[in-house]
Amino acid sequence: MSHRDVRLDFNLAMETALGETGLRLSEIEALEAPMKEIHRGLMAMKEVGQLQFYQLPYHEEMAQEVIQSSQKLREKFDTLVVLGIGGSALGSKALISALQGPFWNELPRGNREGASKVIVCDHIDPDSLDQFLSGLDLKTTLFNVISKSGNTLETMSQMMIVADKLKTKLGAEWVRHFVVTTDPVKGVLRELVKEKKMASFAISPGVGGRFSVFSPVGLFPAAMAGVDLEDLLGGARRAEVRCRNEDVWLNPALMLALLHYLMFLKKRNLLVVMPYAESLKPLADWFCQLWAESIGKRFSLKGEAIQTGSTPVAALGPKDQHSQLQLYMEGPADKFILFLLFENFSKVIPIPHAPFNHEAFRHLSNHSLNEVLSSEALATAEALRSEGRPSAKLLIPHRKPYSIGQVLFLLEFVTAAAGGLFEVNPFDQPGVELGKKLAGGLLGKEGLESFRERILLQKPREQFVI
Ligand code: PA5
Repeated sequence: MSHRDVRLDFNLAMETALGETGLRLSEIEALEAPMKEIHRGLMAMKEVGQLQFYQLPYHEEMAQEVIQSSQKLREKFDTLVVLGIGGSALGSKALISALQGPFWNELPRGNREGASKVIVCDHIDPDSLDQFLSGLDLKTTLFNVISKSGNTLETMSQMMIVADKLKTKLGAEWVRHFVVTTDPVKGVLRELVKEKKMASFAISPGVGGRFSVFSPVGLFPAAMAGVDLEDLLGGARRAEVRCRNEDVWLNPALMLALLHYLMFLKKRNLLVVMPYAESLKPLADWFCQLWAESIGKRFSLKGEAIQTGSTPVAALGPKDQHSQLQLYMEGPADKFILFLLFENFSKVIPIPHAPFNHEAFRHLSNHSLNEVLSSEALATAEALRSEGRPSAKLLIPHRKPYSIGQVLFLLEFVTAAAGGLFEVNPFDQPGVELGKKLAGGLLGKEGLESFRERILLQKPREQFVI
């Protein structure tokens, strides 16, 4: 297996290709010294154990525990359902789709080499949940409840519904159908694990949900689906080695953070992440959450109100060429597009001479579907360039764990480093707390009564409901 590096090609973001709307070399050079400072700050945090996501690919013991448990559980359970949301759901979705494919769960067991189906259930829409649960064979389904805090409304509601169904169907066996991933010590979920003697994994308290893909949060579901964790973590470690470098010209994560920031300064405050592979769409969604919760902040590190951040948008090629591209080409010049491109797919599909063999399509049958896709990606980038619209490409050598491990780690480090440039703390999310309290208050949670009143006081005017 070839172990090539993921590369960042940002030619089409530069003045040399784009003309006056592109970045000048001097603009990058001006940020090199501040970027080094930020890098030193992150490395200093790492030294004192405050950058725990960065160390996760080296936690050999944790990885072995996950591999061994999954090997046993895969024999017994044909399906794993992840109950979790946000950072507790998007990483495993990204991993499984990228590596086992978006249609993995539709394959018969015989084609899954003994691995389980893995369904990430991150919704509580009653109709959809009912339909979903009614289609499961509970006897052969394992539920992985993932919640770092152990008190997330959506996840705990799901767990209560599922536990009740399992108890009705399987009696005392119900607890054997749960594996809980939560804080090692704190929280109601950890209490429940102890009380009911449930199987569990720990999320280190220093690892934020959206930075937890290389913890059991992402790794256990991936291992259940048969992802090669050794290779994945090998890729993450390779990316880590590159991320140690403080030189932006040798560290693609620092360079990408810097590009995002320079684009933001130039009013390109929409960051479109556009893979040209169906399997990478969940990875784009994962990055959007990582970026949005990390960079979108009211206060700077100095405590000044700055209300900063660029807005991430996940798109998908070539599908969105027929949906979004018109806007990206001719609409407001406020976007920077990051293409995620596989240099090699696992399969090559030649386009055959179809029985109808029409002259109009004859040129296609000289090509593979792979060539059609890569030509479309190149064509879109060039079309954008000719309109002065900047883009960059993350070139992913293979659809293999080693490559995907690199991509995920690099993008985590891009986000951490960008936090420094935007002058925000990328590791907190104070903006989501209020909504949680208001919902808890409405549902009668003790101690949150004032939040309930706050909503009830907001009497809607009939005039504005038509
Ligand atoms: O990234 C984050 O911190 C959040 O998206 C959380 O993962 C999400 O809110 C779920 O939280 P928890 O894992 O505590 O249930």
